This record gives sequence, structure tokens and C-alpha cells, in this order.
Amino acid sequence: MAELLRETDKRTHYCGTLSANNVGERVCVMGWAQKQRDLGALIFIDLRDRSGIVQLAFDDKTDPTIFEAAFGVRAEFVLCAKGTVRRRGEGAVNLNLPTGEIEIAVDDFRILSVSETPPFEIVEDSRVNAELRLKHRYLDLRRPDMQGRIMARSRISKIARDYYADNGFVDIETPNLCKPTPEGARDYLVPSRVHKGKFYALPQSPQLYKQLLMVAGFDRYFQIARCYRDEDLRADRQPEFTQIDTEMSFVTADDVMKMHEGFLKKVMKDFCGKDITEDFIRMPYAEAMERFGSDKPDIRFGYELTDLSETVKNCGFKVFSGAVENGGSVRGINVKGGAKFSRKEIDALTEFVKSYRAKGLAWLKWAPTGEISSSYAKFLTDEENEAIKKVMNAEAGDLVLIVADRNRVVFDSLGALRCECAKRMNILDPFDFKFLWVTEFPLLEYSEEDGRFYAMHHPFTSPMDEDLTYLDSDPGRVRAKAYDIVLNGTELGGGSIRIHDGAIQTKMFEVLGLSKEEAQAKFGYLLDAFRYGVPPHGGLAFGFDRLVTLLLGLEDIRDVIAFPKVQNASELMTKCPSEPDAGALAELGIQIVSD
Ligand code: AMO
Ligand code: AMP
Repeated sequence: MAELLRETDKRTHYCGTLSANNVGERVCVMGWAQKQRDLGALIFIDLRDRSGIVQLAFDDKTDPTIFEAAFGVRAEFVLCAKGTVRRRGEGAVNLNLPTGEIEIAVDDFRILSVSETPPFEIVEDSRVNAELRLKHRYLDLRRPDMQGRIMARSRISKIARDYYADNGFVDIETPNLCKPTPEGARDYLVPSRVHKGKFYALPQSPQLYKQLLMVAGFDRYFQIARCYRDEDLRADRQPEFTQIDTEMSFVTADDVMKMHEGFLKKVMKDFCGKDITEDFIRMPYAEAMERFGSDKPDIRFGYELTDLSETVKNCGFKVFSGAVENGGSVRGINVKGGAKFSRKEIDALTEFVKSYRAKGLAWLKWAPTGEISSSYAKFLTDEENEAIKKVMNAEAGDLVLIVADRNRVVFDSLGALRCECAKRMNILDPFDFKFLWVTEFPLLEYSEEDGRFYAMHHPFTSPMDEDLTYLDSDPGRVRAKAYDIVLNGTELGGGSIRIHDGAIQTKMFEVLGLSKEEAQAKFGYLLDAFRYGVPPHGGLAFGFDRLVTLLLGLEDIRDVIAFPKVQNASELMTKCPSEPDAGALAELGIQIVSD
């Protein structure tokens, strides 16, 4: 019943582009049948392609064989239709549809492909469960909202390519089979058949290659790069994702930030139609932690952290005074208008902070009527209670939430809590785009468990000049020439100025507990390259999937990735990962050991 496409079947228009301007024109459209309505002497078919929907009309003037064929059309059949655009009859106009004023009076028509009944209807805002959608992703992607997202992604990618090309960046591909690049996650390994027992790593990022491209003299590098990281998945993380990756020579951190800020402003203008004229805020890491409890603060709203340690350090409530005594702190946030939260909701918030290792949540609820209830007030004197209210700037209608603990726990839990409260207060507008740079990150992070320092960004990030002297004596206080770009509480990208001085690099490896031999074995090629004239350089990589997700007002990066993986890193449609052929493993010299 399906026919082949003929040489004379040339599409003239996409369905959704037709309008009253085309009335009287003979057109040829192709696409999928959204639905067929059979009114006896009249048949209507809504034909859909990536641009939208147009109505095909068949009536008593239509050739009977064509009418017959139209009668047999079901949802998702693929059709080719030719005919004349005409105005719809009085009362048939649908102003909700861009093509709603017209229809095509079909005079030539063929079914190019038939379809079984799909497992779900191809409509916007499908309520179908995620698993079924991903299993039939090709159908899910046919839905107008998914089509819109994937096409938006393509437009944003073009804006990036144009911007960086216009600014002299050279688009260069780097290998996918490579030596491990240290970005802090586990590597995906690929066994070598030729070198049995040896493995390539898939790149966690093109980091070292892009630095080598600077040594090679390309000056400005750009790539829309695939990265692979074997880490636990979340809504903003995939094992395989895309970076807009860049590197520049002869630049300072300020130059790099300005360049990329230019890109984001261009995206905001060209994609979102928003003009941002002012410079993005730049906030040192220490300030971000102190005010927002986070290195990726959402600055769309207040609820900033207030340090109460001084106020409560001598109070009789051990939870508070004890935390200060033990070197920790007591901090609070004032959720303006939060007094409307019920006890049950406050209990839920307490559970919420416990997932950030807080032992509890102290609270004070000041009803708009003036009535005060509190979990801690009875343990404090009137003066102490008044002092807290004053420092917290509390008024009737407010909810004050306090955590006392080690600083790490206080920051983590309150940092997350302020965002959770904003969500519950319903004050977050996803299209209110608030960018900021977080700068002066610590160079190193100390792991209590392992008893050693790790690079916070990566081992090639340069210390700040004024902190170099502490690299030996007090490595923990050294700040880095590293910067993250943050949008609405999400880390959109990060980068740094790199070490280009051999002596500093050697010192850095020492601090990281890497012997000369180990460093040579791991990164010898980079260290060797640096012996032949290396320009000062630095760069940044955006998480492209995250950028697209946020610009579209979405939360899950899977919604902007054509074929994403699910939580357990498998892909439901192709069912990968899968077991290899026995022969393939033998050839690689690999045996699977069950645990
Ligand atoms: P970093 O590791 O910070 O830096 O990565 C840069 C950006 O990539 C995004 N990202 C991810 N997106 C989706 N899924 C993931 N699993 C994932 N991991 C990271 C984030 C992040 O900000 N080579 C350095 C950059 C540089 O120094 O130039 C790097 O990869 O948005
Ligand atoms: P308790 O005396 O343990 O019942 O605690 C009294 C109040 O202090 C309760 O509301 C607890 O949730 C709260 N609380 C307990 N531990 C902490 C903590 N580490 N930080 C803030 N509040 C806490």
C-alpha cells in the first residue's frame, strides 16, 4: 500500500510555513499524519512535519482513488500531498494554529509509509512515563516540544560556532581515544586489541590536548567536544556530555572571562531576545560561601546566610555554643514570608538539611499576626532571642532557619536549604537569567579521608601570584586563577589560567603527592612540550547541555539530548551497555570475572 517517492515529488513548503499568503498556490508537502477525520463526504488530515501542522482536505471534487487512499490513512502514516492552498470555510478557521486560516485542497497524494499504532500519541506535553518515551526515543523526538528543544540546541550551537569563529578561534578536533585527562571523575576505558592489557581512556575533557594546541601556536582553540565521565548521574549530569571547549594564549583571567561573557550576552540577545548591557558580577569564592553557602549561588533571590556565631557563642543552648566552641559556626537564613510554612513543612525542611549531614534545624516562625513559635527560643534568654531576631533582620511573617555545625556542613546545608525554600515559596522564574562569575577558588582541597590534597579544578591550574608563597607552607590557603560561570544556581562552565612555568608545575605535583616519576609517567608529554616554549594560556569550557537546558527553562539535561542515558548509565532504546561477542573479548585478551 505504501508507494515510493517519485522524481516529480518535490516538496515546495514545510507544513507549518503555509499561511493565507499562499492562497491560490499549488504546493507539495510531506510529513506524518497527526490525525484523520472522516466526515463521510469530507476527509481532513492534519499533516505534521518539523515546522508544524497543515490541514489536507479531500471532498467530492477529489479524484475517487485519492479520496479512497485518504480514507485509509491512520496516525503516523507518512504522506506526500500536492494541491492548492485555499481559505478554510467560514467557521472552520482555527486561530490557535499558525496555518489555521487555510487548508490544502489535495489533488495528488500518496502514502509513502504506513505505521503501526504508536505506543503513545505524538503530541506536545505527553504525560507518558519517561521509560516508555526513552525506549521509543525516535517517536518521543517526533513530538513538537522535543523537536523544538533539539532544534533550539542546534541554533545555540551555531551561535557559539559563529561567535568563536568571529573572534579568531580555530575549530580543532582532539582524540577520543587518549590517555586519561584528570578532571576528577572515573575514566571510561577502551581496551586495545593490538596492545593487549593496555587501555585508552575516553576524554573527560580535551584539557591537555587544548593546552598542547597552545604550545603548538594556534593561539585560540575552540571545539564542541564530547566528554565522558563515569560518575553518578543526576538531573544535570550525563556520562557522555558536550562542552563548548576553548583555550586562549597570552591572556589573563580577565581576558578569558570577558571573551566568554561576550558569548553569553550574544546568546541572550540572539536566542532569548534579551539585552544584557552590564558586566556580570564577579564574586570571590570565599564571599560566595559566606553569603550563599555555595560556590554556585543562585542570586535571583535573597535568603542570604547570616553568621550568628558571635551572637550565640556564650548562650546556654549547647547545640549553638558547642558548635562555635568546636571551631564550627552557627548560621541562619531568613525566609521572608516563610511563616506561612506549616509545622509539617518545617519538619520536611529539617529532613532536607539532614541529607546534607546537618544534625538538626533550629527555627523561629513569626506569624504575620505577631505570634512567635520556635524550636530553640526556650533554651535562650530573652536578650539572646532578641539579638538573634535583630541580627537576622526578622519581622512578622518571616521564618528564620538556623544550622549549627562544622562550617562545611553549615554551608552545604544552608546553601541547599535557601534554594529549597525559594522553590517552595514559588519565587523562582526560570527565565530570569542571573549570571555571575565565581573567582579565586581554592587551588587545593584537603581530603580528611585520604589525608592529602587534591586539585580543586585540575593540577594545571595556576595559583594566584600573591598566594604563591604559601604553596609550601600553607597549601590550603592558596587561591587559584580559576573561575566558574554560574547561572541561576547551576555551574554552567569553568576554567582557569594554566601553569606555564615548569618550576611551579613541579611544585604543584609535589603538593599533590605525585613523585617526579609518577608525574612523568602520567603527563610526561605535557611536561616535555612545556620545555619548548609555552605561551601563557588559559581557557574555559561550558557545559553545552546545561546551557541549552537553562535557556529553555528546563531542569533535566536529558530533555535537550537526543539519545540520553538513564540513571544507571544505560540507554533504553539500544539497550547498551551490552555483552560483547565472546570472540571480541578473546581477541582483546579480556576475561570477565564475576564478583
Ligand atoms: P569542568 O570539569 O568544570 O572543566 O567542566 C566544564 C563544564 O562541563 C559541564 N559538565 C557536565 N555536564 C553534563 N554532565 C556532566 N557529567 C558534566 N560534567 C561537567 C559543567 C562544567 O562546568 N577542562 C576543564 C575546563 C577548563 O579548565 O578549561 C573542565 O572540563 O557545566
Ligand atoms: P533538641 O534539644 O535536640 O531537641 O534540639 C532543639 C532544637 O534544636 C530542635 O529544633 C533541633 O532540630 C535543633 N537542632 C538540633 N541540632 C541542631 C543543629 N546542629 N543545628 C541547628 N539546630 C539543631
